Amino acid sequence: MTKKDTDIKAIQKLVIEAGKKARKETKGEPEPGLTKPIKWPVECLVGPGLEGAIACETKIGYVNGTKGWLIYRGYDIFDLCAYSTYEEVSYLLLHGEFPSKSQLASYKEKLVKYRSINDTKRYMMGFPIERMDAMSALRLGTNMMRQEFTYADQHLYKADVGKIISSDEDSIPMETVPMGEEKAIYEFKERRKKRRTPEDIDPTLQSPCGIESCYHLIAGVASVAAAVARLKQGRLPLEPDPELSHAGNFLYMMTGKRPTPLQERIMDISLILHADHGMNASTFAAMVVASTLSDIYLSVGSGIAALKGPLHGGANEQVLYMLEDIGKPEYVSTWVKRSLKEKQKIMGFGHRVYKSYDPRARVLGPLAGYLAKKDKENNTLFKTARKMEKEVVSALGEKKHIFPNVDFYSGIVYSCLGIRPELFTPIFAVSRVAGWTARVLEYLQHNRIFRPRAMYTGQFDEKYVPINKRKK
Ligand code: SDX
Repeated sequence: MTKKDTDIKAIQKLVIEAGKKARKETKGEPEPGLTKPIKWPVECLVGPGLEGAIACETKIGYVNGTKGWLIYRGYDIFDLCAYSTYEEVSYLLLHGEFPSKSQLASYKEKLVKYRSINDTKRYMMGFPIERMDAMSALRLGTNMMRQEFTYADQHLYKADVGKIISSDEDSIPMETVPMGEEKAIYEFKERRKKRRTPEDIDPTLQSPCGIESCYHLIAGVASVAAAVARLKQGRLPLEPDPELSHAGNFLYMMTGKRPTPLQERIMDISLILHADHGMNASTFAAMVVASTLSDIYLSVGSGIAALKGPLHGGANEQVLYMLEDIGKPEYVSTWVKRSLKEKQKIMGFGHRVYKSYDPRARVLGPLAGYLAKKDKENNTLFKTARKMEKEVVSALGEKKHIFPNVDFYSGIVYSCLGIRPELFTPIFAVSRVAGWTARVLEYLQHNRIFRPRAMYTGQFDEKYVPINKRKK
């Protein structure tokens, strides 16, 4: 067996072992109250932050928080990581079943075609990406993809670009009417008088809400994230390589190096692990935007915005900085004791749903260990993380059901792949775009705009007082 095969086999064995251990420790049945068809209105106990609220019915994925299970369309996450690929899993999330050989072949062809986002990359280079937060840049690029691929903006009043008067430096001050709402910075000879009609729309452009847009986003968000990585290094974005898998091409476009089979397989497993996770904040954000009949690009943009936060997907980057700050395993105890005393949230631990070990951490932990063995600096990080897990779980595991979550080990894995921390959360988005688009499409089949209530505890019957009679 070649070195490549040994590595790949070793990884598969590691995932299968993790799955066996998880099944042994988390036997049991699905939660009856969360796995049956809904008869609206549904009774549920709702806590702050909509904890426990049932937002919809779904067949896409199930998270069992008490046991620590994660299931996509009926398939257990450990099996998907051991035997499948991100291409197959993203298809499964979207379509509800695994693709046949020919379906997979045509889906892959689409992904290869949609990875190439030349106009979007060109538009992005007009922005100071190197000075932007990576997730803001990712959201910007997703919007540019929308412009490039769909007729979403064709309905608006739109000047005929060809008729712009040359708006060079000198002319701009003359043409700008101070506070004038009549003129733009550059003046158009004429503004289109009539609304564009469907006949005017370029037939090659797609609907911003259809399945093609989902494929385009699943393929293209990876290219946008890779372009952000390159521009932040002061380099030009790379062209995709049609020969590589989705995970392999993403690594190549990000790092400029074709990945080894081991690196490609590790990224593929990470993308599978992060693809979907019930009604988490970013998926819910995407669905709320879609429920207004906005469009799928803007829904994904909202998902990216929500995922950025350190309480959500942004934690993976913060975990790495935290482990680097601690420096060595021997400093962990003092650090943890001080954090707990100051009631600080420790990044990479705790979860709204998992009150047990996050199944994804059961895979990412051993993956991190396998990779870190070969790399001194990351090995110290990994040992520090392992020590931290012990300390935090012994302090908060029993008492508050706080365990490592998906973000605790993922950063060490990415660091071993030579990826900088600011790209960790974009990688999360590159994967989760499958879950976001799948759940948006599913919800739109029985759409109802999301609109919860708030408990009003303010005043009534206040009288208006003119400004000159108000208290100073
Ligand atoms: C993701 O929802 C998903 O599915 C998300 C996700 C996905 O795949 O989409 O799984 C991805 O976002 C994972 C989570 C990444 N975030 C972090 O690692 C940040 C650190 N974690 C915490 O901020 C927190 O655990 C949350 C935000 C993840 C969950 O917060 P909750 O459910 O609102 O819990 P809480 O803040 O109400 O805490 C309950 C108690 C509190 O103690 P008391 O006030 O009751 O004494 O648990 C404590 C908290 O202080 N607590 C922690 C803690 N998390 C909760 N204490 C220390 N460290 C922590 N990390």
